[in-house]
Amino acid sequence: MDDLTELPGVGPSTAEKLREAGYTDFMKIATASIKELTEVEGISEKAAAKIIEAAKKMCELGFKKGTDILEQRKYIWHLSTGSKNLDSILGGGFESQSITEFAGAFGSGKTQIAHQACVNLQCPERIIADDNIKDDLLNEPKAVYIDTEGTFRPERILQMAEAIGIDGKKVLENTFVARAYNSDMQMLYAENVENLINEGHNIKLIIVDSLTSTFRTEFTGMGKLAERQQKLARHMATLNKLADIYNCIVIVTNQVAARPDAFFGPAEQAIGGNIVGHAATFRLFLKKAKGDKRIAKLYDSPHLPDAEATFRITEKGIHD
Ligand code: GTP
Ligand code: MG
Repeated sequence: MDDLTELPGVGPSTAEKLREAGYTDFMKIATASIKELTEVEGISEKAAAKIIEAAKKMCELGFKKGTDILEQRKYIWHLSTGSKNLDSILGGGFESQSITEFAGAFGSGKTQIAHQACVNLQCPERIIADDNIKDDLLNEPKAVYIDTEGTFRPERILQMAEAIGIDGKKVLENTFVARAYNSDMQMLYAENVENLINEGHNIKLIIVDSLTSTFRTEFTGMGKLAERQQKLARHMATLNKLADIYNCIVIVTNQVAARPDAFFGPAEQAIGGNIVGHAATFRLFLKKAKGDKRIAKLYDSPHLPDAEATFRITEKGIHD
């Protein structure tokens, strides 16, 4: 924990209030917005700007040395999706410190993949990590499932867990589910993940299923597009911050819409445009194939080639 009284205009009592609000170190303050900080009692807009500026300097935010990034990347770990084929196109499974997006039509398997990830987190053999962080990952890792469509099914978790021989009750114990009925709740739940972490929960997986459905219904029409994108950008920033600071895996699901200019290229695209596109490191399209088969297509990844994988969804869950 940093000594917050080193910040300009912050005395012991303001420092205490900041800590109570979850701002326990310079990094958290440096990455907060002015508006967020003014929600702490006694901090004016002007003071907030000064505090954030100082906090940024304290942690040299924005200018990390290449060696520091290399150091941070040493902690990256992977979680198996359940399918070796799918793991392989992702470079070894879901990757921490980044956001993985699954887009696809209804029934393409987005929610099933999200359920399977919660189950796999409780299966040590499905966690791929170096020894230096394995202990932390195996210390009661927990998942947060932000459910905007009411499709989280504990029964399905039990079924998937049984199929791989792990205790389904334990998976449910270690999965926090939050039902978000609108975009404000959805954003708040994401912001509050940090509180769970501060309470001592070892949150390692964060799921938002679906990322865009609330935004899509609330902000309709061209006139609302800018506001929608701005909010979505903030939501993505929150998720990215959590992934980076706490070395979490973040999975978001997304719907697809017809491309109006689909003369060349695919006829469908993920919702959310560039905002979602730039914030997600791994983007996949899911397509139904014959029977229980599904095709996942990785695209637009900065360091992996576009690739396809076939997997299946059966009563056992996600597998090859
Ligand atoms: P939307 O949220 O509607 O956009 O779809 P989604 O992409 O989230 O689809 P979801 O993950 O809910 O996939 C539903 C499909 O998974 C079903 O159509 C089934 O094919 C398959 N599925 C779901 N549960 C089971 C199950 O218990 N057994 C089997 N065999 N298949 C299942
Ligand atoms: Mg779904």
